[in-house]
Amino acid sequence: MGAGNRDSWASRIGIIMAVAGSAIGLGNFLRFPAKAAANGGGAFMIPYLVALLLLGLPLMWVEWTLGRYGGGFGHGTAPGIFNSVWRKNRFIKYLGVIGIFGPLVIFIYYTYIESWTLAYSFFSLTGKLAGVTDQQGMQSFLRGYQGLEVNQHFGSIRPAYLFFVATFFLNFAVVRNGIKGGVERICRIAVPVLFACALILMARVLTLGTPNPAEPTWSISNGFGFLWNPDFSALRSGRIWIEAAGQIFFTLSVGIGAILTYASYLSREDDVTLSGLTATSMNEIAEVILGGSIIIPAAFVFFGPHDIRTIAASGVFNLGFVTMPQILNQLMFPGFFGFLWFFLLFLAGITSSISLLQPSIAFLEDEFRIGRKKAVWIVGAVAFVLCHFPVFLLRYGVVDELDFWGGTFFLVVFATIEVILFAWVFGIHNAWNEMHRGADLRVPVIYKFIIKYVTPLFLLVILSVWLWQEWMPVIRMENVSAESRPYVLGTRVVLALMLAALALAVKLAWKRRRARGEDGYAA
Ligand code: ALA
Repeated sequence: MGAGNRDSWASRIGIIMAVAGSAIGLGNFLRFPAKAAANGGGAFMIPYLVALLLLGLPLMWVEWTLGRYGGGFGHGTAPGIFNSVWRKNRFIKYLGVIGIFGPLVIFIYYTYIESWTLAYSFFSLTGKLAGVTDQQGMQSFLRGYQGLEVNQHFGSIRPAYLFFVATFFLNFAVVRNGIKGGVERICRIAVPVLFACALILMARVLTLGTPNPAEPTWSISNGFGFLWNPDFSALRSGRIWIEAAGQIFFTLSVGIGAILTYASYLSREDDVTLSGLTATSMNEIAEVILGGSIIIPAAFVFFGPHDIRTIAASGVFNLGFVTMPQILNQLMFPGFFGFLWFFLLFLAGITSSISLLQPSIAFLEDEFRIGRKKAVWIVGAVAFVLCHFPVFLLRYGVVDELDFWGGTFFLVVFATIEVILFAWVFGIHNAWNEMHRGADLRVPVIYKFIIKYVTPLFLLVILSVWLWQEWMPVIRMENVSAESRPYVLGTRVVLALMLAALALAVKLAWKRRRARGEDGYAA
């Protein structure tokens, strides 16, 4: 329902699928298994579960509750939502800018990577990928596709741009139809289909047995053993705790601002506690059970205990676009299984990227009273220009730079602001009552304590450790090559300009709001 004539969800299952769709992404099938394998295997699950219970789940409830609360006042994005919570504060709406900036920044590079999965689905079906037999070939296929080198696979033709444009337009074709008619409709189909694809792939991996008769220890059960046998000594390193917390943020899509916006389309009496828990559980099943059962165990079976370590540490792109197609090429029906894998990633990607667009669109609709179609055009034009940076400057580390600010740093900052506002400004008693309005599940009362003290403290510790250890090297670009420095600096300038433009837009929107006599908000 929401306020005024804002869009709304048609069903409860619709928003659950949409939030689960936003959460389930490349992080579940690539980032998680790689992190677990590199950080103590089964032992990684200890800090992972701690982060899930003390950061992920509370933040999920905080975002659902704040979003629904702000939606009741006609606000679908953080500037208005924060201002509804803390009306007397003139400054708080500007901190809300991060909740529009972050998702837009992630969208800018995420869509490009998503377009690779669409392209690879196509190459799997046409058999182009099946013709590549070894690791080097697969690597140069990827580099040729990305335009990083001219080689026999693509020559000077760059289909990557075509697939990027197609993916970009597919995203906008969905959001153009709004929440009910676009996001909900696609997620209700795409999320079950992606689960089905993952289940088929998992079943295939489980039945691999020992495909290499010369190496009887390269078995699927040893593959699972490699991933899950705990190395408890890893727990002594502080890094594993930070890595686990980072993975929880990334995989659940909390601290971004997207879930706030989705929840703003709920009505005031809609449940948030059980729905938030359900979406979280769906993500965890997709991550730990499905994500943990595909790529690493399969790679173990084909490459053995020695190479698997290098493979697991080779990065997400390498795992998804080099190792996995190589594995699939050794199965019967490589085209079919290759298509399943990349199409699964594409569905996981698009259901996440549409959620990243919604805050910018909602901001224009709610705060400037711009109609949906026009808002979609404006966001589309801006995003299209910005997306060209990662598309053409991939080799200069632009994707990593965008991922660092949009997908890592500001996420933690934004989550810290949200939880402090919720527990300390709104007040934990009000917040708790608001959270349980229309609730189908009573959250254990220990979470009152966790949300008030533990989650903010945990977040502040992560931020402080990071600032202490990494701030100067990042500012000085110590880990950036001399060749890439001008581009990385340029990216930072563009990001700063985006933040400034959004802050100005907020100022303008509030000025207009006052002129329309919609007061009660700090100027
Ligand atoms: N939550 C999304 C993912 O896991 C961004 O990829």
